[in-house]
Amino acid sequence: MATMATTRWAGSSGESLRLTGSREGALEAPPVYVNGAFVPAARAGISVFDHGLLYGDGVFEGIRFFEGRIFELEAHVERFFRSAEAIGLEVPLPPAGVRDAILETAARSGLREGYLRPLLTRGSGDLGLDPRKARHPNFLILCAPLDAFGEAAERGVRLVVSRWRRTPRASLDPNIKSLNYLNNILAKVEASGRGADDALLLDLAGNVAEASGENVFAVRGREVRTPPTDVCLRGITRDRVLRYLSGRYRTLEAELPWPEILDSDEIFLTGTGAGILPVVEIEGHRIGSGRPGPLTREVQAWYRELTHRSGTPIPYRIPSGGPEGSGGGGPNGEIRRKRNHRIRS
Ligand SMILES: Cc1ncc(COP(=O)(O)O)c(C=O)c1O
Repeated sequence: MATMATTRWAGSSGESLRLTGSREGALEAPPVYVNGAFVPAARAGISVFDHGLLYGDGVFEGIRFFEGRIFELEAHVERFFRSAEAIGLEVPLPPAGVRDAILETAARSGLREGYLRPLLTRGSGDLGLDPRKARHPNFLILCAPLDAFGEAAERGVRLVVSRWRRTPRASLDPNIKSLNYLNNILAKVEASGRGADDALLLDLAGNVAEASGENVFAVRGREVRTPPTDVCLRGITRDRVLRYLSGRYRTLEAELPWPEILDSDEIFLTGTGAGILPVVEIEGHRIGSGRPGPLTREVQAWYRELTHRSGTPIPYRIPSGGPEGSGGGGPNGEIRRKRNHRIRS
C-alpha cells in the first residue's frame, strides 16, 4: 500500500503539487523523459514554437501504476500509436521502445504508485498551421503522483449536463487522444462554476456521450449500458468493465438518452485517472438511492484488486548515471541503444 504523504513539492513550472504517492519526503518532481534523455523536471522543456503548444497538434496517453506495476501498459501503447497514426504523426520509437521508455520513466521516479503521461507533439515549426513545417516530433514522458477525485470516489460525484456538446466524430474522432482537450475543459470549467464535480457531455442527438475525461455506465435491473465509441473515447477501463460484467449482466453499447438516464438504478464513470466513480446526483436529481449502488461498489472493489494485482513490473534498479542523461546498461540498456533519436527543437 502506498504511504500517504502531505509533502509539497515544486513542479516544473514552480507550482506546488500534492504528493500522494509512496515517495514520502521526496522534494523533487520525477525527471522527465525528453526525446531520449532524462531531464530534471524544473529544466525540462521544448520550444515555444512547438505545434503541440501552438495548436494542440499532438497526442497523449494517461497511464497509471500501482504497487510498482504499470496497469494495462500494452493497451495504452497501442492506443498511443493509433492516435498518432490517425493524425499522421510518426512515433520516433517502435512500440517496444515506447514501452521501455515509459517503464524507465516510472523507475526513475522512485514512486511505487503514480501517473504517467507520454505525449508526442508535432514539433516546432513556424507560426502557420502547416504540419509539414514541423518535421521533428517531440516525445515526452511525464510522471507524477495522482489523486484525481480523492474522497469523491467514496461518497460519489455530483454532475451537471454541460451546455457544450461533445465534438462530433464528423469534426474530430473522439478516439484520437489528441492534445486538444478544449471541448472537455470547457465542460469541466462549467461543472466547477456550478459547484459540481464533473459534467456530462451530450452528443448532437441529445444522448449522453461521456464525462469530461471518463466513460459513463448506467445500470437498470440486469442491463448495463454504455455509449457507443462513435461518440466517446474507447476507454481502456470501459473495455475492462464491459468484459467483467458480460455474462452476468446484459451489457449494451447503446445510446443513453438524456434525461431518461435519470431513471437508472446506478450510474458510474470509468477512467484511468478516476478509476470507478459512483454518480449520486445529476442536475440536482438523485440517482438510485442517492448513495453509491451495490454494483458500483462491486466494480470498484474488483477494479482496485485488478489494478493492484496485475500489470508490467517496473525495473526500479536504475543503472549508474544520474537523473540527467541516458545512464548505463542493465535492464534499461536496450532503451538507450534504441534512443538515437535525440531531436531537439
Ligand atoms: C475523454 C475521455 N473519455 C474517457 C476516458 C477514459 O479512458 P481510459 O479508461 O482509457 O482512461 C478518458 C481518459 O483517458 C478521456 O480523456
